[in-house]
Amino acid sequence: MFRSDLLKGKKILVTGGGTGLGKTMATRFMELGAEVAICGRRKAVLDETAAELAEATGGRISTHAVDIRVPQAVEEMIAEIWASGPLDGLVNNAAGNFLSRTEDLSARAFDAIAGIVLHGTFYVTSACGRRWLAEGRKASVLSILTTWVWTGSPYTVPSAMSKAGVAAMTQSLAVEWGPRGIRCNAIAPGPFPTEGAWERLRIGGRKAESKDDYATNPMRRAGEQRELGNFAAFLMADECAYINGEVIAMDGGAWLNNAGNYARLWSLGDDDWKRMREQVQSQNVKDKSQRSV
Ligand code: COA
Repeated sequence: MFRSDLLKGKKILVTGGGTGLGKTMATRFMELGAEVAICGRRKAVLDETAAELAEATGGRISTHAVDIRVPQAVEEMIAEIWASGPLDGLVNNAAGNFLSRTEDLSARAFDAIAGIVLHGTFYVTSACGRRWLAEGRKASVLSILTTWVWTGSPYTVPSAMSKAGVAAMTQSLAVEWGPRGIRCNAIAPGPFPTEGAWERLRIGGRKAESKDDYATNPMRRAGEQRELGNFAAFLMADECAYINGEVIAMDGGAWLNNAGNYARLWSLGDDDWKRMREQVQSQNVKDKSQRSV
């Protein structure tokens, strides 16, 4: 889909890059020539991923153990990364989430999620942004959100609130930092099954994925990891640098499936549509018979 050197010469940090979607994006960036840094809380997991990706792509990758909820730790990590050469891109992918009735959440539970998604994302973005601005360096920030930023999401309120905050950051910084060469965009992925998210967010501890899970998705399936990797690479490439301040869904059209009053009419068959037409026609005949002109 892309030139194999699309991201050559770029150095990109992917937060939460050791597993799941972060690992997928890091892989795609390396395949396309980028040097990658990944961070997360589990050093062993990061190192295992780094060895795997270096072997698979022949590219350069560094690992950084950090809890992005701690601003000083973030600052130290970014200084360490910069010491071996500045970043050109940042992917805010690290997240935390669990299903819970909102009335059951303690303040600490809210903070556990908001600390990662809202605060942590800001700490990393700001530590990179300050350096890019001081050096007059062009850069790109991509944040991984969800379609909940438009719809809200019951039972995952701290995540929905925090991701909506990052969407606001994306739009705000696109305007504030855009004139100085830093663009900010976001992807709002729909269902892309990963172990980390699915083990926490699957309803009622159900084990297997079922086709019915996607019965209301216009594409009738989950997203494929590779599709997300390609989209992230596209947004990080200089060749489409005029995209700035966008939050773009990649969910098969799922969040629009409640659009208007008629989104569920896909389940009607030929006979149903015939009856619908007859219904309209009979009303038209009735109206006509009552017209005086
Ligand atoms: N329901 C309600 N409250 C919960 C909860 C749940 N499922 N899980 C944790 N909490 C509460 C705890 O009870 C605690 O509050 P309390 O002290 O008032 O009782 C608070 O949250 C913090 O819990 P703790 O286990 O100390 O949190 P933590 O900071 O170690 O970890 C996460 C919380 C979210 C960071 C953890 O689940 C995690 O590491 N997740 C990995 C990343 C992830 O979630 N990936 C999926 C992304 S979609």
